[in-house]
Amino acid sequence: MAKDQAEPLLHASRPSSDDSSERHVEEDDALLKDSTTRTSSRWNRYREIGLFAWALIATALVIILAVLYEHAESTTNNPPSDSPDNDHPTAPFAKRNLIFMVSDGMGPTSLSLTRSFLHQQESPDSPYNTTLVLDSHLIGTSRTRSTSSLITDSAAGATAFSCGLKSYNGAISVLPDGSPCGTVLEAAKRAGYMTGLVVTTRITDATPACFASHVERRDYEDTIAEQEVGLTHPLGRTVDLILGGGRCHFLPNSSEGSCRGDDTDVISLAQEKQGWHYASTRSDFDALGNGSNVQLPLLGLFASTDIPYEIDRRAQSDIYPSLTEMSRTALNALSAATGDSDKGFFLMIEGSRIDHAGHSNDPVAQVHEVLEYDRAFAAALAFASTKNNDDEGKAETIVISTSDHETGGLATARQLHTTYPDYHWFPSVLTNATHSSSYLSHQLREHVGSHVAASTDAMKTWIRNQLVEIGMGCYDATHEEINLLYSSAKGEEGSLPGTWLLADMVSRRSQVGWTTHGHSAVDVNVYASDWEGGRALRGSMENTDVGGFLRGWLDLDLGGITDDLKKALEGEESGWMGGKVEGESGEQGNEEGEDGREALDAYQGDFKRSKRSSCGCEDEFAAYHRVH
Ligand SMILES: *[C@@H]1O[C@H](CO)[C@@H](O)[C@H](O)[C@H]1NC(C)=O
Ligand SMILES: *[C@@H]1O[C@H](CO)[C@@H](O)[C@H](O)[C@H]1NC(C)=O
Ligand SMILES: *[C@@H]1O[C@H](CO)[C@@H](O)[C@H](O)[C@H]1NC(C)=O
Ligand SMILES: *[C@@H]1O[C@H](CO)[C@@H](O)[C@H](O)[C@H]1NC(C)=O
Ligand SMILES: [Zn+2]
Repeated sequence: MAKDQAEPLLHASRPSSDDSSERHVEEDDALLKDSTTRTSSRWNRYREIGLFAWALIATALVIILAVLYEHAESTTNNPPSDSPDNDHPTAPFAKRNLIFMVSDGMGPTSLSLTRSFLHQQESPDSPYNTTLVLDSHLIGTSRTRSTSSLITDSAAGATAFSCGLKSYNGAISVLPDGSPCGTVLEAAKRAGYMTGLVVTTRITDATPACFASHVERRDYEDTIAEQEVGLTHPLGRTVDLILGGGRCHFLPNSSEGSCRGDDTDVISLAQEKQGWHYASTRSDFDALGNGSNVQLPLLGLFASTDIPYEIDRRAQSDIYPSLTEMSRTALNALSAATGDSDKGFFLMIEGSRIDHAGHSNDPVAQVHEVLEYDRAFAAALAFASTKNNDDEGKAETIVISTSDHETGGLATARQLHTTYPDYHWFPSVLTNATHSSSYLSHQLREHVGSHVAASTDAMKTWIRNQLVEIGMGCYDATHEEINLLYSSAKGEEGSLPGTWLLADMVSRRSQVGWTTHGHSAVDVNVYASDWEGGRALRGSMENTDVGGFLRGWLDLDLGGITDDLKKALEGEESGWMGGKVEGESGEQGNEEGEDGREALDAYQGDFKRSKRSSCGCEDEFAAYHRVH
């Protein structure tokens, strides 16, 4: 090769460095100097023409800038405001609604998984253009770490949204020093907006809790329940509408279905002291007429703990409403209630159990949770579009959707052998299943419990035929797999939870991988109904920036709320943040310190023994509930 050909290649491959970019600046300088030193006899004439041109350009620039500035001012969608805006004391601020959706535990891979599943389920022979509704509204990604860990939990994750501030894992809208921080929901309520929370888990769980309560530990759910309905909240009632699960924390310990540690009847007190209307059954829900027949404040608790996974709920829709149904009802109710107001509403909608499916490593439950979340998102979009184009009831409405973190370390590929892997994962395996592994595992325990006299062989036959083949759609289970399920159902020493075993059978067959039963640190997606309105959310951001957007979009003052909450920690009513944990001696598992804040842990070896394993307990989800 000729030398002169090799040289440019060498130049091109030289890594760009500070040195080389400085060199470019020097080169540019030299060129400029060159041209200015080349004076000619007609220098003065050029100078006159130049000055004239410069004057023209400068004038034009001033005009253009003025117009652009004016335009930016009039179309700004994100008034930066934590304090009264003195520059624009009478700035017109259109009536606004904010629908904030949280897909708990949904990472980027959950989307890939669900999209491929949907394609397989609906149109395997069509071109590869199946997408979710969410896909066309992707606007950015959020970095999720908390102050105590690179891997956040839902509590710190939701505090980043509600207060716009980072805190430690387990914190329910309190900061690392234990002091409460005002939330967008509380500030929205004070500013005259209507407010609502819709979830598919316990309404006392971390994500909803962070919007309307303040405690140092997420498992103070009894205290959270009292604050959410305004009984012990220093600001009184801040929520107008609640739809979800978690009734057990509202019932006194003397009544059936209670999980409270005391005999406080939160539901009755909420009705008497704060005027709540209460709904708890499917027929109560149907009577709400899609939101057209709602009296606020409304406390709708339709499950003792979680509303079942969507894949299981479908067969029990006469008992439990879906996330989409609850979302529609909430949107219509809040819209009607704000019809005559110059302020709209703030509604938080959580697809809570995408996270639970991740904790169980159950891809079947997860795809159905994500699909239901996508339907709820579509319903919110449709609502927003109607409100944005409604001549009479117009309210600028935006839908923002994001996750607090990913759960499970999900991968749409899994190497099962030492030979180099094929590039496959098999969505069709997931389409075969009729129930979540959690549901099937529960069925297994019930069956074993009610057939104690059955022979081992009869039991194993039932497991293979009813559970694994009919329930999971898996026709090639090995004897070893059936034996493991049998041991688990019998609660034998060292056996794994049935949920994990069943989920793993489906995961391996579909070649879906999981790296943890907990959360992971991957960035999560951010979606917006409106590319322009959500422009502050474009690109990569911290989760706290999402919180900042929520505050800015409704033009809220969180600082004043924080001040009032802190004041309420002095004097007589100062015990409102206190908490007890039912049935717990105070020990919180080895990752957490005494105050419930996670210590920064170190590598413990590959086979760390967990205090929680080998429980053989009747409900392994009790253990999860404390951590997810
Ligand atoms: C996918 O492509 C097919 C064929 O080009 C088309 O009929 C269909 O509408 C497309 N679907 C979507 C969701 O774009
Ligand atoms: C119920 O709560 C009360 C305190 O409010 C307590 O004294 C009582 O022991 C509890 N009962 C049960 C069965 O836990
Ligand atoms: C609620 O609204 C949805 C669509 O907005 C409609 O399909 C459904 O039939 C309505 N249900 C009732 C009970 O009115
Ligand atoms: C799915 O179910 C069909 C029967 O309905 C069965 O033939 C097929 O083998 C199943 N797939 C798997 C992966 O077990
Ligand atoms: Zn979460």
